[in-house]
Amino acid sequence: MAMLKPMSDKGRFLTESVIRDMTRQANMYGAINLAQGMPDFETPPELQAAAEQAIRNGYNQYAITWGAPQLRRAIADKARAFNGIECDADENVTVCCGATECMMATMMALINPGDEVIVFQPFYENYGPDAILSGAKPVWVSLHPPDWSFDPDELRRAFGRNTKAIIVNTPNNPTGHVFTRDELALIAELCQEHNVYALTDEIYEYIIYSDKPHVSIATLPGMAERTITISGLSKTYSITGWRLGYCIAPREITNGIRKVHDFLTVGAPHPLQVAGAAALAFSASYYEKLREDYRRRRALLVSYLRKAGFTFYEPEGAYYVMTDITPFGGTNDVEFARWLVKEIGVAAVPGSSFYSPPELGRTQIRFMFAKKEETLHQAGERLLKLKG
Ligand SMILES: Cc1ncc(COP(=O)(O)O)c(C=O)c1O
Repeated sequence: MAMLKPMSDKGRFLTESVIRDMTRQANMYGAINLAQGMPDFETPPELQAAAEQAIRNGYNQYAITWGAPQLRRAIADKARAFNGIECDADENVTVCCGATECMMATMMALINPGDEVIVFQPFYENYGPDAILSGAKPVWVSLHPPDWSFDPDELRRAFGRNTKAIIVNTPNNPTGHVFTRDELALIAELCQEHNVYALTDEIYEYIIYSDKPHVSIATLPGMAERTITISGLSKTYSITGWRLGYCIAPREITNGIRKVHDFLTVGAPHPLQVAGAAALAFSASYYEKLREDYRRRRALLVSYLRKAGFTFYEPEGAYYVMTDITPFGGTNDVEFARWLVKEIGVAAVPGSSFYSPPELGRTQIRFMFAKKEETLHQAGERLLKLKG
C-alpha cells in the first residue's frame, strides 16, 4: 500500500502537553502530583447539589450556544462588581468550555495567519499551541527573575506594524507574578499607540496574596474597546472538570467569538452552567476563605522548598512556584523532573515547557500547591530528601 499522505502541519507540530504527561508519570510511579493545576480537595458541597438539581430540573439539552442566560447575567454582575468592567450579559458575555476554549475562540476570531501576538514568557503552555492553531506568530517578551517583571524597553521593541494582540495573564502562571498597575498602564499605552488588542487571562483573579486588588486591564482608560477579558470558574470554585469559562468583549468582537465558539463546541455543559450561576452568587466570605486557604498552602509548600534547598521568588498570586534547580547541580529540567517523580515521588513540571526556545527553562521546574495541607506535608517531607 502506498504511504499515507502526511498529517496536517498543525497536527504534526503540536507536541503533547508536558503537564498532562507529568500527571500520567505521577500515576505510574504513585508520586504526589504537584504538576497539573488540579485541586485534590472537595468541590463546595452546595455546588455539587446545584449540579444534581440542575440535571433533575431538566437542563439536559443544549443551552443557547453563547451561554445560559442566568450564567451570563451572573457573570456580567460579577464583572461589574469585582472587576469594574461595564458589560451587558446579552451583548458582551460568551460562555465557553473553559478559559482554554475562550482563548482559542478569541484568537481564531481575531488573528489572521502571520499576525504577530506578543506573549510574555515563561508562558502558560497552551498559548504556544493557541498560536499554532490560529496561525499567529508569537513574539516573546521575557519576565525576568527574581520578581518576574519585564523590561519596558524590551516590551516597546516587541510592538510593531504586524502586532495584532498581546496576551496578558495576571495573576500569572507559572511565575506567580501579579502585574502592577504601572506595568498594565504601559501595556495599555502601547496597545493604543499601535492599535493592538489585549487578550487577558484572569483565571486566578481571586487568588492574590497581597491586599492589593486585582486590576483588569479592560478598566484602564481607552482599553475597554480593545480588550477581551477571559476568566472562568475552574480555579475559583475548584471545578476544573466542569469546563466553564467566559469572555467579556465589545459587541463586534463578541459576535466573532460566538461564531467560532459555536462551530468549535456548540456550548459548555448546560446543567453545569446553571450550577455555575449558583457559584457566582456565593457571598464575600467564600472568596476570603479561598484566599486564606491558599495563603496557608503557599506558606507550607514554600517552607519545605526553602528547607530542601530550592531558590525561588514567593508567588504573589495563582498557585504555582517556579523554582531554580541549579543549587542541586540541575542543568536539565526534564531529566530532573523525571528523576524527581521516580525517585523522590513528587511530580513537577519541567521549566522548558514554559519557554520558547525550551532551552531557556532548562534550570527551572514548577510546583503547584492547589492541594490539601496533608498532601503538601507528604510532598514536602519527600522533597526534604534532596537536602544535602
Ligand atoms: C493561566 C491559565 N489559563 C487557563 C487555564 C485553564 O483554564 P480552564 O480550566 O478554564 O480551561 C489554566 C489552567 O491551569 C491556567 O493556568
